[in-house]
Amino acid sequence: MSNKFTKLWDHKTLDPQSLVVEVGRVNDMSPRQIAKMYETVNLYGVAILQHAPRPGQTVEELVDLGRLFGNSVVHDRADERGLVVVAELSGYGEFVGASSGPHLMHTGGTFMPWKDVPRIVLLQCEKQSRIGGRSMLASGASAFRYLKHHEPEALKLLMDPQVFSIKRSARGVGQFANTGVTGKAVFDTQQLENGNLWLTFRFDGEIKLDIQPDAAVEAFDKLLNYFNRSESQIDFKLQPNQIMICDNTSVVHARTAFQAGSGRKLNRLQLDGVGIKELHWGFPQPS
Ligand SMILES: [Fe+2]
Repeated sequence: MSNKFTKLWDHKTLDPQSLVVEVGRVNDMSPRQIAKMYETVNLYGVAILQHAPRPGQTVEELVDLGRLFGNSVVHDRADERGLVVVAELSGYGEFVGASSGPHLMHTGGTFMPWKDVPRIVLLQCEKQSRIGGRSMLASGASAFRYLKHHEPEALKLLMDPQVFSIKRSARGVGQFANTGVTGKAVFDTQQLENGNLWLTFRFDGEIKLDIQPDAAVEAFDKLLNYFNRSESQIDFKLQPNQIMICDNTSVVHARTAFQAGSGRKLNRLQLDGVGIKELHWGFPQPS
């Protein structure tokens, strides 16, 4: 275990520009470029791949990149390759991912059992909105350190393996379906094989969240407040031919609202990370 990969950062200490790894076509990446990409993800829990797809091959490049992060994780809006288009879609109004509204800080697949949660989220930009649509990220390790020093009681509650249960909304129906899980910690100490902490977090009106005990609701609020502060976040606008690589075990991501009807289009692929020995999941307990 390397303690070099603390994934501790905030607005002051991490310049999004330093996350960019420039390559040509994904399949032509050199071993050095691949190593730099993994190293960046291990250091910060996020990297931005700047790639140069052949015309008409954009989404294929995302699928190619996915192979470097394991097997794709099934989602009910995904095609057979696991791809999900993140754009405004009619008929999916209950999915925040299919609207132009803001998306609060969260980890992907929070409502899934631990074994099914994607460890990597890839987000590829095809077309941006002229207004809005910025990406925001915050570090779970920095949030943990903050709570440890300022809100130790809240942190204790958030580390309880039964602190929340969650269900997500059903496709095409405005109700909460059976997809869900009973009993998870926000900062889990048991699930990762390397002894690191695993962050899993969602706190918005789109899902059905049951938080126990009552006092833990305030702890969730404190954590969301931490993530929402501009000092905690890096923020940038993903550009066409960029793919954001998120370590879903250690960072939360969010998006600002964008212009309705702008044609903004992103492609998403979620991977299980299985067999990718280069990656260090989660983060060591910060002091
Ligand atoms: Fe997401």
